Amino acid sequence: MNLGVEFCGVKFKNPVFTASGTFNSGKEYADIVDLNQIGGVIVKGVASTPWKGNPAPRIAETYGGMLNSVGLQNPGVDVFIKEDIPFLRQYDTKIIVNLAGRTIQEYCDVVEKLSDADVDMLELNISCPNVKEGGVAFGVDPKMAALVTAEVKKVAKQPLIVKLSPNVTDITEIAKAVEAAGADGLSLINTLIGMHIDVHRRQPTLARKMGGFSGPAIKPVAVRMVYQVSKACQLPIIGLGGIMTGEDALEFMMAGANAIAVGTANLLNPRATMEVLEGIRNYMKSYNLLDINEIVGIIE
Ligand SMILES: Cc1cc2nc3c(=O)[nH]c(=O)nc-3n(C[C@H](O)[C@H](O)[C@H](O)COP(=O)(O)O)c2cc1C
Repeated sequence: MNLGVEFCGVKFKNPVFTASGTFNSGKEYADIVDLNQIGGVIVKGVASTPWKGNPAPRIAETYGGMLNSVGLQNPGVDVFIKEDIPFLRQYDTKIIVNLAGRTIQEYCDVVEKLSDADVDMLELNISCPNVKEGGVAFGVDPKMAALVTAEVKKVAKQPLIVKLSPNVTDITEIAKAVEAAGADGLSLINTLIGMHIDVHRRQPTLARKMGGFSGPAIKPVAVRMVYQVSKACQLPIIGLGGIMTGEDALEFMMAGANAIAVGTANLLNPRATMEVLEGIRNYMKSYNLLDINEIVGIIE
């Protein structure tokens, strides 16, 4: 049975990755999850300098999902290089660095600092709804998305994936723009923008009022977008949004994703990545599927 996938020229032992911001660099999970079994770890957004994140409350539960307004809190790229890369390199998994920035220059600064670092791929987050500048502002406008992609690509030494926002009318427009600007791959989707109100306090639950909506409730939207983008572009795709089980992961792959990432599920069940992998293996056994790549994009 072959679970191995090649993505932007990098060979992964299986298509199960962790979604940025839900697994950090795996330190909190290493006692319960065998990091050697994960195809790739997509780390929490890393910026050129330390970022504080947003004020609390910044998490709210909803039916079938959650809202977060954590923001891109992180200790900065220097700490990441010193502490997280050596930690992850103890394991047989690939490292994908999620890039955070408020301006094009800030994104380029992180990428330059990572140019000699031992990491396998970069994921440009132009879709975070929880930062005032940068983030989603780049991800909802095809011209801006193309501009930031082209500038980051100029300085990037590792393959560059661009992470798309679902908060747009036509996601294929943005996907085609970043493809033309030189992206090597795409990941989708980031969170949808949502809001929750505490009727007893008569106030929004999140201090920032709105936040990113994630979890199983968003999966049909994500599968639809992966399907549309895979038909509109040639780039390989990491599919994510609400994956809880192996069958969820297979839906994304049949829709056109070459690999998948597990996000919010990790917060509910720290072993979610292992269970998704086991679910994929069981499906392959049941249907005598010898190579996982055979089901990628089979939906016409
Ligand atoms: C608490 C939290 C923090 C997140 N932080 C990041 C981040 O730093 N960078 C990023 O690109 N996406 C971030 N995301 C978005 C996820 O990587 C993912 O795209 C989204 O949650 C949809 O997948 P899911 O429903 O499986 O969680 C975050 C999501 C959550 C719930």
